[in-house]
Amino acid sequence: MKLVEANLPPSDSSKLGLCEQTFEEKIRIWKLNGKSWSGRLSVEEYLGREEHLGNQDLTRDGSITYWLLTDLSKNPNERPILSSCESLKKRVLVKQHDQGVEEVVSFGIMSVFCDPALRGRGYAARMMKELGEKLDYRGQKHERKTQFTILYSDIGKTFYAKNGWEPYVSSHVSLPPVKQPNGMKPLHCRPLYASDLAALCGKDESMLKRSMHHARPPTGVAQVAIIPDKATMSWHHAREDYVAQRVLGRTPKVRGALVRCLDGSRVWCFWSRFFGNESTEGNILNILRLVIEAEATEQSLPSAQAVGSTSPSVNNQEHVEAMQAILQAAQLEAAQWNMGAVRMWNPSPLILQAAKKLDSSSQLTHRQEDSIASLRWHDDTTHPTDWIEWMANEKYAWC
Ligand SMILES: CC(C)(COP(=O)(O)OP(=O)(O)OC[C@H]1O[C@@H](n2cnc3c(N)ncnc32)[C@H](O)[C@@H]1OP(=O)(O)O)[C@@H](O)C(=O)NCCC(=O)NCCS
Repeated sequence: MKLVEANLPPSDSSKLGLCEQTFEEKIRIWKLNGKSWSGRLSVEEYLGREEHLGNQDLTRDGSITYWLLTDLSKNPNERPILSSCESLKKRVLVKQHDQGVEEVVSFGIMSVFCDPALRGRGYAARMMKELGEKLDYRGQKHERKTQFTILYSDIGKTFYAKNGWEPYVSSHVSLPPVKQPNGMKPLHCRPLYASDLAALCGKDESMLKRSMHHARPPTGVAQVAIIPDKATMSWHHAREDYVAQRVLGRTPKVRGALVRCLDGSRVWCFWSRFFGNESTEGNILNILRLVIEAEATEQSLPSAQAVGSTSPSVNNQEHVEAMQAILQAAQLEAAQWNMGAVRMWNPSPLILQAAKKLDSSSQLTHRQEDSIASLRWHDDTTHPTDWIEWMANEKYAWC
């Protein structure tokens, strides 16, 4: 062990605490974690991406905070970087049993990192404990307590659960890219652009609020949802554009697809492309959010977990066909961008049916290691998975 590492305080030291990174510390941390996370970008480009992502509608004006676990007795920029992470403010909805739907502030935690030389000493666990306490009242009106926070674990289901963030259902269905439409009945499917985001995300948000308002979860059960707003979608698109420009020299324009059903209702989705590595397999076209307009008026929506397995009614049948058209538009787009697959998180049984019609081998995959959606309820130490339904648990909420 190097001397400097040997002289660091242990993870249970009272000298340790969480504080915000200085600009210099932020750059040092990005250079360090960029070695693991830069993907197809150079470390310099990765630094540029992080700067760019910190300057979007979702993140600017203090909505993103860069945290550092350190020895608080030392001066900024001279103190050790024991571990680091970020928290991102999120607009969320909470519905408790027979109460109204409330919009409150929550946080997504991301970029949890510890220098390889310092791992296994308990620093990240200490940071998560401190962070939970920091976020307890952050950004809340009238000194109310933060109700819940979320994160997406890439290290399985144990580490964060030990620290209070419990794993939720984290499944997906994948479809291969296709170069030509198959022979299915053509439904008119129109591409969606950035200019469509405001109106459709606004509609989605109001439908989500309405469906939660009408829902009657059993006594003791609460529903929560991250609001699928324009700022959230645009943040994904900003990431996608930044990387696409650097690795391919062009940026995508088509952000999703929309179908109008015979009854006038619409089915749409927004997506974003992930450029993993140089092989096609590493590139994924992720469906960020899939919306069935009629669903919100007919039934409590849209948690994939909450929608029971149904054999399709006539109306459902039309929606399955609409979803097929949407998913096929995604497959065609995926082929154009050399993506290895289209992926939809936590698909409802109807979406799964639509996927199987396009590709009979498609099935539900339950992730065990990466992107495990995890939630901590800050008011209560009991297991949130027992009594909190995470509605609309789709890719858009990832951070
Ligand atoms: C994950 C990470 C932050 C842990 O930091 P750390 O300071 O070593 O963590 P701690 O010493 O507090 O805790 C270590 C625990 O984390 C677990 N852990 C660490 N890396 C892990 C991994 N890749 N998969 C599963 N568990 C892991 C250890 O098994 C250990 O568990 P234990 O307490 O039951 O023994 C660090 O390994 C890291 O930066 N990894 C690379 C970046 C990353 O994957 N971040 C997580 C993104 S969701």
